[in-house]
Amino acid sequence: MNKLRVAIDGPASAGKSTVAKLVAKRFSYIYCDTGAMYRSTTLKAMRLGIDLHNESEIVNMLNNTKITFKPSTNGQLVFIDGNEVTNEIRQENVTNSVSTVAALTKVRSILVKQQKAIANCGGIVMDGRDIGTTVIPDAEVKIFLIASVSERAERRFKDNAEKGIHTPLEELKREIELRDYKDSHREVSPLTKAKDAIELDTTSLSINEVVDEISKIIKNN
Ligand code: CDP
Ligand code: CDP
Repeated sequence: MNKLRVAIDGPASAGKSTVAKLVAKRFSYIYCDTGAMYRSTTLKAMRLGIDLHNESEIVNMLNNTKITFKPSTNGQLVFIDGNEVTNEIRQENVTNSVSTVAALTKVRSILVKQQKAIANCGGIVMDGRDIGTTVIPDAEVKIFLIASVSERAERRFKDNAEKGIHTPLEELKREIELRDYKDSHREVSPLTKAKDAIELDTTSLSINEVVDEISKIIKNN
């Protein structure tokens, strides 16, 4: 079987990264979490005290930054300039600021260029918001995962509880809706379903059911 490029897009907590990792494992493909690149950029800018609307300063910073991934048993470790930041980039302050940085045109063009280079080898599952539309518009398989806002807030609530964080469900719902809005309404490559993407509603599907469904689509390609 040819090594395909699989693009998985969709809104926050639709299950993209969980499912993408498992699909990659099943086919012995590489997994690339593009959200981690936007999150790492945001974290470094915050640590340096850069105004997150200041595009030129963030671009300067990014031109001197190395974001790298290392596969691990639990998925993937993320490094900024050689220092591990896997957990830090998931903190709530980063989550709630990342859409501001991801809306900056020049930031996107730097990261999209890097993502295109990573995807070039094939045999890859890449997840994000604009993979099927911008990063790999000719991907052999394009999936668009969705789930209701309530279900997605519940998922984030459970993830948070495991980490000892107890943000109220209603607040998580509002945060998700706001991030969905910002990601879908930005000028550059907003979150949209590619015309040729297959939409899967995961609201009442288990992780395994979603992985099986995507695997079927890959095998039938
Ligand atoms: O896992 P979660 O859905 O919370 O988000 P993520 O995939 O880690 O992405 C974090 C943020 O990065 C998104 O809300 C987008 O603002 C941005 N992003 C993007 O603009 N384009 C991508 N290809 C991936 C992420
Ligand atoms: O990457 P994205 O933000 O789209 O979602 P995620 O971080 O992969 O998934 C958020 C949470 O939903 C994780 O705890 C998953 O275990 C859970 N989940 C899922 O991913 N898929 C389902 N069908 C059901 C639950």
